[in-house]
Amino acid sequence: MSLGRVLLGEREIQDRVRKLGEEISRDYAGCELLLVGVLKGAFIFLADLARCLTIPVRLDFITAASYGESMRSSEKVVILKDLGIDLKDRHVLLVEDIIDTGLTIDMLLGNLAGRNPASLKTCALLDKPDRRMVDVKADYVGFVVPDEYVVGYGLDYQDNYRCLKDIYVLGS
Ligand code: IMP
Ligand code: MG
Repeated sequence: MSLGRVLLGEREIQDRVRKLGEEISRDYAGCELLLVGVLKGAFIFLADLARCLTIPVRLDFITAASYGESMRSSEKVVILKDLGIDLKDRHVLLVEDIIDTGLTIDMLLGNLAGRNPASLKTCALLDKPDRRMVDVKADYVGFVVPDEYVVGYGLDYQDNYRCLKDIYVLGS
C-alpha cells in the first residue's frame, strides 16, 4: 500500500487543533481535566491538543483492541492496557484519533462511565460517519471525513505512517 492524496495538511490540522483547545479550555474553565488517550492512534493528536489547553490537565492512556470479523457489529472490543488513574469525581475527556464504526468509543464510554467520573465527554480528531454501526457522537470533532482509509498524524496502516505530519488517503 502506498500513500494517496493529502486529505488534511499540517497547517489545517494545527489550526483546527488550536481551535478545539480553545473551545475545550472555555468549556472546562475552573476545572481540572483528565485527558484519556486511546493508544496508539491518538498519541500525536493528544500531545498537540494538550499543549493548546489553558486549564490544568492530567493525562492517562488506554489501549483497546477489537476481535472478530472487523466489518461486523458482532465484533468484540476489549481493553488491552487499562488506566493507572482512578476516574472517580474527575472530569474525563476521552481522546480518539477517529470514530469509524463507533464500536471502540461506545465500549470505552460504557466502561469508563462505570467508574463514576464527575463528567465524561469525547473528542475525536476525525469522524467517519458513513460507516457507523452504533449511534455514538463525539462531543468535540476535528474534521468529518469521507469513507476512505486515512493515515498519518497518529493514524496507521499496519503500524506504518503514524509519524507523518499531514493526513493522507491510503493509495493502492
Ligand atoms: P471503530 O471502533 O470502528 O470506530 O474504529 C476505531 C479505530 O479503528 C480507530 O481508533 C482507528 O484505530 C481505527 N481506524 C478506523 N478507521 C481508520 C482509518 O481510516 N485509518 C486508520 N485507522 C482507522
Ligand atoms: Mg485506534
